[in-house]
Amino acid sequence: MTQSRRVGCLYADSCTDEQRSAYDWCSTALDGADRRPLSEVDPSEYDVLWWHRDEGFDERALPEERAAALAAYVREGGTLLLTLRALSAVEPLGIDAVGPDATGWEEIAEPTGHLWKSLYADHPIQDDYDTLRVHTRGAGVTAPYARYESVLPESGDVLASTVRGERDAVSQLSIVSWEPGDGRVLGIGSPVTFAQPTHDVCRMNRETLIENSLAYLADGERYPLTGRPADAAALGRWRERLDDDPNRPAYHVTPPANWLNDPNGLIHWNGRYHLFYQYNPAGPFHGTIHWGHAVSDDLVNWEDRPVALSPSPDGPDRDGCWSGCAVDDDGVATVLYTGGRDKRQLPCIATAADDGLTSWEKDPENPIIEELPTDPEVLRTEDWEGEFRDHCVWREGETWYQLIGAGMEGGGGAALLYESADLRDWEYRGPILAGDRDTAGTVWECPELLDFGDRQLLHVSNYEDVVYFLGTYEDGEFDAERRDKLDHGDFYAPQSMWTDDGRVLTWGWIPEARDREAQWDAGWSGALSLPRELSLADDGGLCQRPAPELTELRGDETSRDAVRLGSGDTERLPVESRTFELRATVRLEDAEAVELRVLESPDGAERTPIRYTSESEIAVDRSRSSENPQATVDTQSMRVTPYDAPLSLRVFVDGSVVEVFANERHCLTSRVYPTRDDATGVSLAAEGGRATVASLDVWELRSAWER
Ligand code: FRU
Repeated sequence: MTQSRRVGCLYADSCTDEQRSAYDWCSTALDGADRRPLSEVDPSEYDVLWWHRDEGFDERALPEERAAALAAYVREGGTLLLTLRALSAVEPLGIDAVGPDATGWEEIAEPTGHLWKSLYADHPIQDDYDTLRVHTRGAGVTAPYARYESVLPESGDVLASTVRGERDAVSQLSIVSWEPGDGRVLGIGSPVTFAQPTHDVCRMNRETLIENSLAYLADGERYPLTGRPADAAALGRWRERLDDDPNRPAYHVTPPANWLNDPNGLIHWNGRYHLFYQYNPAGPFHGTIHWGHAVSDDLVNWEDRPVALSPSPDGPDRDGCWSGCAVDDDGVATVLYTGGRDKRQLPCIATAADDGLTSWEKDPENPIIEELPTDPEVLRTEDWEGEFRDHCVWREGETWYQLIGAGMEGGGGAALLYESADLRDWEYRGPILAGDRDTAGTVWECPELLDFGDRQLLHVSNYEDVVYFLGTYEDGEFDAERRDKLDHGDFYAPQSMWTDDGRVLTWGWIPEARDREAQWDAGWSGALSLPRELSLADDGGLCQRPAPELTELRGDETSRDAVRLGSGDTERLPVESRTFELRATVRLEDAEAVELRVLESPDGAERTPIRYTSESEIAVDRSRSSENPQATVDTQSMRVTPYDAPLSLRVFVDGSVVEVFANERHCLTSRVYPTRDDATGVSLAAEGGRATVASLDVWELRSAWER
């Protein structure tokens, strides 16, 4: 930092030891620094103001008229660094409607510092480091802090969370950047103390961070990615940053960056397909959930839209807008979702404020159901007064019905039925189906009832699997005849959309199968499955096949007529890709197994075999999928019937996603993370006898995101 920058160090009435130490350091390190009480400061004399505060923050710290002057200075292009508990000033200064929710003093038991978002690894205040984990405070002290922990700033961009020792504390958000009006503000709520001695590495890191922050603010150059993406172009820039990641799917729906879980509010509206999804803008972890949004005209090309629903600081959804669905209420697109606040999770409603479904008006009467049902008693847990969430809504004649997922005290999961004339006043009717805890899980999340005419399908997500029941639903009761899993791998909380031409398309959340640290480093987490068309077969079973529209993704094709394999034969196909569709018909003849190996390195050190056996099983063997120890290695499997017919297989490989469809009935979705650039091969092998792979086609698939 050059010496010509003038730093005004602010304090309220008198300087504490901590402030004195910080400002002493500042005037030694930088020539143009001086200390000024807030009541006297003339911001125009400085290039940047720095307010460092260890004491609690109240009215006296920032009287109203000073707040107004400082707020005006910032909006008109001024810059401000707020450290430790001064971060709370963002609220009275009108920089953010939501201030840090966790503030006080804490014991620092291990070296502590900042966990940078990989998306911002090259931010000027961090780019001296080639690690995302930078310790700024040694152990053994009690230190002041202010952080966002269960809420998010409404308009600021989170740059870093917290690292404690070797552990990522992802939900303790400690560095935030704002751009109010023409100004810029940086908040560093922890751990940057100056009065307490610390060892050299932490001291140097802390000094570099503060110097860089002051220089960044004084220099006037904006870092191009800060600010919440408000348009497709800005969201596209996020995507571009992640383009080089070979694990990132290209034609599956992913978040532009950060975290995605369940699909929500799926609706075909004015000819466009809208997907919303559980989204955390703060980083690639589950916390403070918003609704992300993507749209498509054709189910093939997708575009990002800005965040559609955000928690309201004073609303019943303050801690998160959890899963929900969309309906057409006589021409008004309407969503029902679960609002979370403290230990309560209750249904909320919002209506679209525009035709593109980009902005939503929440009902002032939210939550629309305030009391939990008592018959049966809803399960109370450490986290929740009642496990009661997620919505499936439909209309019969003039009456609306709603299912809510729940757990029952002393029992298992349940899908609870409500009835309403207007979507707002709901009357409880009781469970349509309830599971036994040992076989069906303690809580049923995201229940969905699909009507196929004569028969109905109910699926629920029970923390482990998506279980579906086929049977008949009548008068508030579901009579289940069969039960199975909708998918046998990494697939959860699906939701469906009825298209204008009468089809049911279902998307599920494909979670990561690598540890949290790897997700953090990647900068994104989660994908949605391909849309699956669900229907009933003549024999009453469930059919699942990729939406036919997806063939539009196909590019270069490699085809083979029948490939005959003898026992022990291996044949490598002329394909090198991590983004392809493979379609094949497999006859085992007298073989014990056939393997289709994808994402295979030439020496076979990394590869993912999809193994079809004479025991009528398909298994995805992940034991050699990745040399990265952060990736899950277990084998996932499913039974396929009938075993003696040729097996028709469609396999979609997309970065780290492998989605398998067998006989248009059984699905297994898996996540694998090859580390080697050359793990792009495909081969076939037979074991214990002869096998035939007939009509083999491989297509390169293109990206769904245009840039
Ligand atoms: C399922 C789920 C839902 C909840 C949402 C929160 O994955 O736990 O029950 O509404 O995710 O993000």
